[in-house]
Amino acid sequence: MELRDWAIHILSADTLDNKLFDPGEWTDHSPGTPLIWHEPTRPPGMSFCRRTKEEKLPSFQEHHDAQKRAICLHRFAGHELLAVEIMAFTLLAFPDAPSIFRKGIAHTLREEQGHVRLYMAHMKRLGVQFGDLPLYRHFWKHTPYIQSPLHYVSMMNLTFEMANLDFAPMYGKSFAHFGDQESAQLMATILKDEISHVKFGWHWLKRFKQTQQTEWEAWETTLATTLLSPKRAKGFCVHEKPRQQAGIPIQWIANLKDL
Ligand SMILES: [Fe+2]
Ligand SMILES: [Fe+2]
Repeated sequence: MELRDWAIHILSADTLDNKLFDPGEWTDHSPGTPLIWHEPTRPPGMSFCRRTKEEKLPSFQEHHDAQKRAICLHRFAGHELLAVEIMAFTLLAFPDAPSIFRKGIAHTLREEQGHVRLYMAHMKRLGVQFGDLPLYRHFWKHTPYIQSPLHYVSMMNLTFEMANLDFAPMYGKSFAHFGDQESAQLMATILKDEISHVKFGWHWLKRFKQTQQTEWEAWETTLATTLLSPKRAKGFCVHEKPRQQAGIPIQWIANLKDL
C-alpha cells in the first residue's frame, strides 16, 4: 500500500479498526501533490468534544482509584490517536519531504497505533472502553501551523513528544506507587518508544535547520510561528536522562530548564 493511500485511509476511517489499520508492507512511489487534511473523520461516539469540566485529569492523589487511573489512560489513548492522525496529516502535507524522513514518520505512525492498542487493553482491564469518555481536539488544532517538515519535528517530536519524556515517567511512578504495576509497565513502554521519537526529531532538526542557526534557535524560531510556547516541551519537572538517551545535548536541556 502507498503511504499516501494509508494516510487517507486513516484520516477518513469511521471505525477504530480502520484508524489502526496496518498494511504491513508499504511503498512511497507516488506521494502525490500536497494535500491539507482539515478534519479527521472519527468513529461514531469518538468525535472531538467541546471542552468541559471533564477536561481536567484526575490528580495524582486520586490514582489509588482504578476508575481514575482508567480516565488517565483513556485521555492518553486519545492523545495517541491524535498522534496517528497528525502523522497521517504530515505524510499528505509534505509529499516532497525526503523519502527517508517520510519512512520514519510511517514507522512512528505504526508505533503510535500500537500505543493506542496498548492503552485500550489496559483501560479495558480497568473497566473502560475507548470511546466511553469524551475525546478532545487538543493537538489537532495545531495542524494548520505544521507548515513544513521543520515545523513537524519542532512541534510534534521536540515539543509534544518531548514533554511526554516528563509525563510518562511521572504517571508511571504514580501508578506504581498505588500498586498498579501493569499500568506502570505500560508507561515505561511508552517512554521507551517516545525516546526514539524524540531522537528522530532531533536528527531531522539538524538536517532541516539553516546552517548558521543553532538547534535551539531553529526550534524556538519555528515555534514562534505557531501557537506553541517552548514551555510546552516540558512537564512540571525536566527529566534529563530520557532526553540524554534521545541524544539531546546537555546545553539544550539546560536551556529548556531555564524557560
Ligand atoms: Fe505514542
Ligand atoms: Fe510518540
